Amino acid sequence: MINVTRTFLPDPDEYMRILKRAWDKRWITNNGELLQELEQKLKLFLGLDHFLFCGNGTIVLQMALKAIGKSGDVITTPFSYVATTNAIIWEQFRPVFVDIHSSDLNVDADKIEASITDTTVAILVTHVFGNPCDIDKIEDIAKRYNLVVIYDGAHAFGVKYRGRGLLSYGDFATCSFHATKLFHTVEGGSISVNHEKWREKIYLFRQFGHIYDEYFSEGVNGKNSEFHAAMGLSILPHMEEIMTARKEICEAYDHGLAGLNISKPIPREGTVPNNGYYPVLFESEEKLLQVAEALKSKQISGRRYFYPSLNELPYLQEKQHCPVSEDLSRRVYCLPLFPGLDKESIDIICNTIHETIAKS
Ligand SMILES: Cc1ncc(COP(=O)(O)O)c(C=O)c1O
Repeated sequence: MINVTRTFLPDPDEYMRILKRAWDKRWITNNGELLQELEQKLKLFLGLDHFLFCGNGTIVLQMALKAIGKSGDVITTPFSYVATTNAIIWEQFRPVFVDIHSSDLNVDADKIEASITDTTVAILVTHVFGNPCDIDKIEDIAKRYNLVVIYDGAHAFGVKYRGRGLLSYGDFATCSFHATKLFHTVEGGSISVNHEKWREKIYLFRQFGHIYDEYFSEGVNGKNSEFHAAMGLSILPHMEEIMTARKEICEAYDHGLAGLNISKPIPREGTVPNNGYYPVLFESEEKLLQVAEALKSKQISGRRYFYPSLNELPYLQEKQHCPVSEDLSRRVYCLPLFPGLDKESIDIICNTIHETIAKS
């Protein structure tokens, strides 16, 4: 079976060699040596100034929201993973969905201002598939209305935008290192705090709000362990080969799917992408379902990512409409993409899509 992704795993001996340092000291969590080393290495790799390795890509969103220190409305995108909306609701904020732009599937920054009211406190939007949001417009709006900007950068690992790491933009930028991501620590996440005033707060939040016997604030368990850090440390040296393999697969898809009536989100100029995903937009949901069925019959599975549009989640308290996102989320499908996906499989996938579209 070929799935939409396959977890990259290092040589187990290499993993054990690194882990053994923590094992021998019997210090396996609580800001251990491996975690600190991983933080330093990731800071350099990602070009970040202040960066914390945490439990997962959801708790970091919750901590960023908590740092605002007051409740209210949060402008957000309907086209993201459900964790983005859930974090807002979980932290007792009201999500206000602003529709997306069809070119890059990110929030349409031109529509944000119309949704701002006296109770708006923040903008939490996602760099979908690693494509940067309209950072200039969002920053300008945030400044004028005094709003906190949180970027869900779960997909943005290693993306560069205008010569800078994408996670260096916004007041906060989070990332996910879940096993399905291009760089992973089994479970894990990070938060880049790009404004001095939040730094100490987030550091304390991650560890229940205290340092040894001194208690400073409320907090949560946002920590991660030496077992997870060791996975990150053993994968990091492979990033170049991972990125190259992903780029080559994306180019093979571009070539194999040329001429079809399908489209792809277009990244903003100045982006150096990470090729984390290969999303395609079909002409209709019907075509998408036909292709998914044809691939399934060959033991190949992509993913409807993201579907449904988050403003349509059944448990939301109020109905808000986002016609662009509702339409595109029904037509978007991510194709299998991972190092090791061979040329033959890519050909089968492309040919199946060609044949299915031609037939229908
Ligand atoms: C856009 C987005 N935000 C948040 C998350 C949550 O990350 P995690 O699974 O590490 O909690 C994910 C995970 O897939 C995601 O894709």
